Amino acid sequence: MLTVNGVSKKFGDFSVLQDIQLEFSNGVYGLLAPNGAGKTTLIKMLTTLLHPTKGEIVYNGQDVYSMGEKYRDLIGYLPQQFGFYKNYNPFQYLQYLAALKGISKKDANEKIPDLLKLVALEGAIKKKMGKFSGGMIQRVGIAQAMLNDPKILILDEPTAGLDPKERVRFRNLLSDLARDRIVVLSTHIVSDVESIANQIIMIKNERILYKDSIHTICHQLDGKVYQTEVDFERVERFRREYLSLSERQENGVMNIRFIAEKDSDAGWKRVTPTLEDVFLYQYQDEGIGQIG
Ligand SMILES: Nc1ncnc2c1ncn2[C@@H]1O[C@H](COP(=O)(O)OP(=O)(O)OP(=O)(O)O)[C@@H](O)[C@H]1O
Ligand SMILES: [Mg+2]
Repeated sequence: MLTVNGVSKKFGDFSVLQDIQLEFSNGVYGLLAPNGAGKTTLIKMLTTLLHPTKGEIVYNGQDVYSMGEKYRDLIGYLPQQFGFYKNYNPFQYLQYLAALKGISKKDANEKIPDLLKLVALEGAIKKKMGKFSGGMIQRVGIAQAMLNDPKILILDEPTAGLDPKERVRFRNLLSDLARDRIVVLSTHIVSDVESIANQIIMIKNERILYKDSIHTICHQLDGKVYQTEVDFERVERFRREYLSLSERQENGVMNIRFIAEKDSDAGWKRVTPTLEDVFLYQYQDEGIGQIG
């Protein structure tokens, strides 16, 4: 069990996170928040790359900073940006990183083919990484994070640059890996965590807004999300009155999905709230998406 206990983080006077309380056991946790909310900051503290200004992070009762190498041996980390040599093939790259992690050459050479197979790159073992697609690079990144068979796998925006097919493959891979480990991944793309995360963690105004199942998080908007058709000339006014979540032109009218907190209308169809709806609702003032 990994516990974040009353953690705050400031850079100088600039406060990013306040009084963060979290517990992780095996499963997939999706850290979901807009750009600049503090996802990477939290993740870097989980990996001991950054120190909290206040509070502690504890693994099975021990402070992770005092555990030092012993803790770092338990984690696998995919940074938001990672560098590699374009002339390396994935086998060479993983060998190089394994050496840095203190894994013997013999162990590494046994393990690397399995890992490349795990991320479906066995066909590209000899191919230079400079020729890889974004998704292939990302999969090498996941393979390197798995080199030490970590108990805690931490992935910062791992789905950036993946095409839809690669996303599906990636989701399946993560659910497999999470059976006997903690997997934490950050993203600002709702659909990336919607189908794989057991728990969603949302950060807002420096604090944890939710740490719950998608079902529970969506519950708050029950009975408030609707769909209706609006004539084009009324769309502007409609947007001022209600929070528009998505809009689609259909048969000469606008089909709008929206939130109405108080009103209701016989012509509106009530729909089941999704995580995307909650995301747009909660971060509506933060200038993301195409709201309003
Ligand atoms: N080393 C630092 N010094 C000063 N400010 C920092 C530092 N690192 C991050 N910040 C600031 O802290 C805030 C949170 O940054 P962070 O990178 O954690 O956000 P994020 O949620 O990962 O964003 P993104 O989705 O863009 O990756 C931002 O305002 C950022 O500018
Ligand atoms: Mg980040």
